[in-house]
Amino acid sequence: MHRVQIEGGEVFAFPSEEDTLLRAALRAGVGLPHECSVGGCGACRFDLLDGEMERFWPEAPGLSERDRKRGKFLACQSRPLSDCTVKLRCADEYRPVIPPRQRTALLEARRMLTPDMAEFTLRVPGGAAFLPGQYALLYPPGATGARAYSMSNLPNEDGIWQFIIRRVPNGRGSGALFEALAPGDTLPFDGPYGHAYLREEAPREIVCVAGGSGLAPMLGIARAALSAPSPRHVHFFDGARTVRDLCGGDQLAGLAGPRLAYLPVLSAPDDSWTGTKGFVHEAVARTLPAPLEQYEFYFAGPPPMIEALQTLLMVQHRVSYSQIHFDRFL
Ligand SMILES: Cc1cc2nc3c(=O)[nH]c(=O)nc-3n(C[C@H](O)[C@H](O)[C@H](O)COP(=O)(O)OP(=O)(O)OC[C@H]3O[C@@H](n4cnc5c(N)ncnc54)[C@H](O)[C@@H]3O)c2cc1C
Ligand code: FES
Repeated sequence: MHRVQIEGGEVFAFPSEEDTLLRAALRAGVGLPHECSVGGCGACRFDLLDGEMERFWPEAPGLSERDRKRGKFLACQSRPLSDCTVKLRCADEYRPVIPPRQRTALLEARRMLTPDMAEFTLRVPGGAAFLPGQYALLYPPGATGARAYSMSNLPNEDGIWQFIIRRVPNGRGSGALFEALAPGDTLPFDGPYGHAYLREEAPREIVCVAGGSGLAPMLGIARAALSAPSPRHVHFFDGARTVRDLCGGDQLAGLAGPRLAYLPVLSAPDDSWTGTKGFVHEAVARTLPAPLEQYEFYFAGPPPMIEALQTLLMVQHRVSYSQIHFDRFL
């Protein structure tokens, strides 16, 4: 057990069985800044002022060359080897509503939804307490480190966590989840994580924008919003390349009704497609009936889609940052 002091702030314990500084801080209820939890974004950068720290992935893209020269660390890719003092700015918005827990998950089922996306159903002891839109960390067999995957179902007491995972060409983690695991197998699991969850209290109509497997958290958010008694509408944009890559409509079929507007948008359709074409953020700009600052926005998917939406909303339409919630699938 090591003692971690945040300069000018909280102190927390790092138990010997813990894996990273970030996860220990969040389990202790400390609001340590983070976004992806897997070394990609740099949100969890910190300076080590005193003590010894082990780095798991020195080349992690979350650190720039300048950061590396300055000796910075990523809290999601490092672990104290002694009592330490670290410098970073904690914030209440990062304090976990539901502290993450490490457990072992059982793969109950895997069902193909498109040629390269499958729904994975995991059963995890101790229930499925999470906020719609959050993600969990899975440790695929044979891959180094964890992979983040967003829940597509609703929280429940049965311990069922569902994910929609795309098999990335040559991807070590996603490849192992499709090939090295079979129903009945177990794998290490940690969660929940993430801040792009449904704000139940926000009064505005909801816009969900999914790019590819970004569908998973958007389904969770739409399912939760539409099953709540509030009259809020959900405008759901499902971005995919071709019609074979679309599955959001089937997933949302049970929720169809006057409160749901579902729009599939294809970026590379064949000639038979008569629906909306182009990039999904362009459809958002063209289609929503009211000025954009009147909505609460949720989106998930590849980084270029996230950047295009940030520019559209924050730069071109001055939508407040507090109305924008997203996960970049790094
Ligand atoms: C918040 C979040 C939510 C996501 N949700 C989903 C989802 O719902 N569905 C989905 O299909 N995808 C999702 N992703 C993407 C997913 O986490 C993986 O990036 C994707 O499946 C590719 O992983 P791979 O192992 O196949 O590819 P690879 O290219 O082999 O690995 C890429 C991933 O592995 C990590 N990594 C690579 N090398 C190392 C190393 N040496 N040590 C530690 N980590 C390493 C990277 O940070 C990156 O996350 C999400 C990503 C994020 C950040
Ligand atoms: S949270 Fe650590 S790099 Fe993204």
